[in-house]
Amino acid sequence: MRRPMVAGNWKMHGTRASVAELIEGVRRQALPVDVEVAVFPSCLHVAQVVEGLSGLPVMVGGQDCAVEASQGALTGEVAASQLRDAGCALVLVGHSERRLLLAESDEWVVRKFAAAQSCGLVPVLCVGETLAQREAGETLEVVGRQLAAVIDACGVAAFGRAVVAYEPVWAIGSGLTASPDQAQEVHAAIRAQLAAADAEVAQGVRILYGGSVKAVNAAELFGMPDIDGGLVGGASLNADEFGAICRAAGS
Ligand code: PGA
Repeated sequence: MRRPMVAGNWKMHGTRASVAELIEGVRRQALPVDVEVAVFPSCLHVAQVVEGLSGLPVMVGGQDCAVEASQGALTGEVAASQLRDAGCALVLVGHSERRLLLAESDEWVVRKFAAAQSCGLVPVLCVGETLAQREAGETLEVVGRQLAAVIDACGVAAFGRAVVAYEPVWAIGSGLTASPDQAQEVHAAIRAQLAAADAEVAQGVRILYGGSVKAVNAAELFGMPDIDGGLVGGASLNADEFGAICRAAGS
């Protein structure tokens, strides 16, 4: 069976002091052993978090990486190889805030996905539709296209070393959560699309739900057959709330 994963996306939040408090808070949590837990601090705080959480079964990831895997002349960017060197195990690619606010294209997301894997990082590929796309009935088409870009370029086998996160844009930071049935429909479609290329890979890949996940709604979402955990933004900045969400993903 797939081991659930709960990942906290801290986004552009934190100071050295608040990150130290959050680390202490996470250290106090009783984390379920059957759930993989990860946090994604800003790259400025990666080293502090790797050190602060050492000895704990919590992985650290980057929120983005450059399209080039190796370090080089690319001002302001962080290479996947540098994240790996700093102690990261994973990296988010294609988060909707970057796709929409920073105009990241599918082509760029594909290159970041490949760069991450070439350095031994597990990419967490974020996909999801806007409210206008959902209202136009385009949800499965949009998500299918975002996923196909990576399958076509990297091959389905690459998903044996990747995680997918379905995050409806209208549910992110809005307090609106997709209903468990709405989310399950899209998760099942993502798995079916992967299964059409390789059934075994599709069975093994973790598909996380993201968008206003909280302790009160987590268990119901995680109870759906194709939802293998969550990518948690706002609620992951509160260690007790994050711990409760991690426990909701446990058996
Ligand atoms: P949210 O963010 O939990 O604050 O809605 C989720 C995400 O963007 O990863």
